[in-house]
Amino acid sequence: MTLLDGKKISNDIKNEIAAEVQKMKDNGEKVPHLAAVLVGDDGASLTYVGSKVRACERIGFESTLVKLPNTTTEVELLKKIKELNEDDAIDGFIIQLPLPPQINEQKVLMAVDPHKDVDGFHPENFGKMALDMSTFIPATPFGILELLERYKVETKGKHTVVIGRSHIVGRPMSILMSRKGWPGNSTVTLTHSRTEDLSKITKEADIIISALGVPKFVKADMVKDGVVIIDVGITRVPDENHPKGYVITGDVDFEKVSEKASFITPVPGGVGPMTIAMLLKNTLLAREQRSEK
Ligand code: GUN
Repeated sequence: MTLLDGKKISNDIKNEIAAEVQKMKDNGEKVPHLAAVLVGDDGASLTYVGSKVRACERIGFESTLVKLPNTTTEVELLKKIKELNEDDAIDGFIIQLPLPPQINEQKVLMAVDPHKDVDGFHPENFGKMALDMSTFIPATPFGILELLERYKVETKGKHTVVIGRSHIVGRPMSILMSRKGWPGNSTVTLTHSRTEDLSKITKEADIIISALGVPKFVKADMVKDGVVIIDVGITRVPDENHPKGYVITGDVDFEKVSEKASFITPVPGGVGPMTIAMLLKNTLLAREQRSEK
């Protein structure tokens, strides 16, 4: 069994980006600037956004954190987005999801300038991705592709089963794994909460990508020997014995499933750190594209 070490690979990628930033600095060019908008005070979102901003600092990017109260209206958020779209210093920005219920997520994502949409959530960018056109690929799916590529995991002709149809992970992942190219060329089954007899499908999978958010949902008796496991789950499970009061738990029963797997991502330290690295990569691409204009 080989561990798909997202911590190590994400560090390699960050070092590669840092070297690019140093070159930009040496040439007297503007360095990439990422802004992150956080609405409300959800603990997990605060942690994720904090990690994204810290990662920017580490590799020499400029960063801006925009914190808005939980009571922010849709109009106020749209005004902030307009400001970020028009601010020439900002190369890319993200609106951390989920948003409070008074705000329509679709309206917000549509308002982001596609050229600054480093999350790849705008319909223009999502459509380009689906059509194999060059664009920003959403950070988590992009990170999974990068892990498969760097560990040379064969995907051609394999049966890839994706669990979960979210717009952020499951849906784009199903499209990317079926595209012509590598990683890709898989036969893909996209499963979700209404799928009947999921176990029957997962037992036939060569590659399982689980983005469900249910701790230890994928058990050893649901997978075949030699399966490749990508665990996107990061659920906080209360645990009094842990100083933080919780432990981060994946969708996969790692202890048992790893005995059957050929490759597997740990949680934490698998897909999570890759997401941040690929967001930085998209921001670097955004800067490069804007400087060419
Ligand atoms: N919430 C969970 N994952 C993501 C992500 O990749 N981007 C944003 N903006 N919000 C998220």
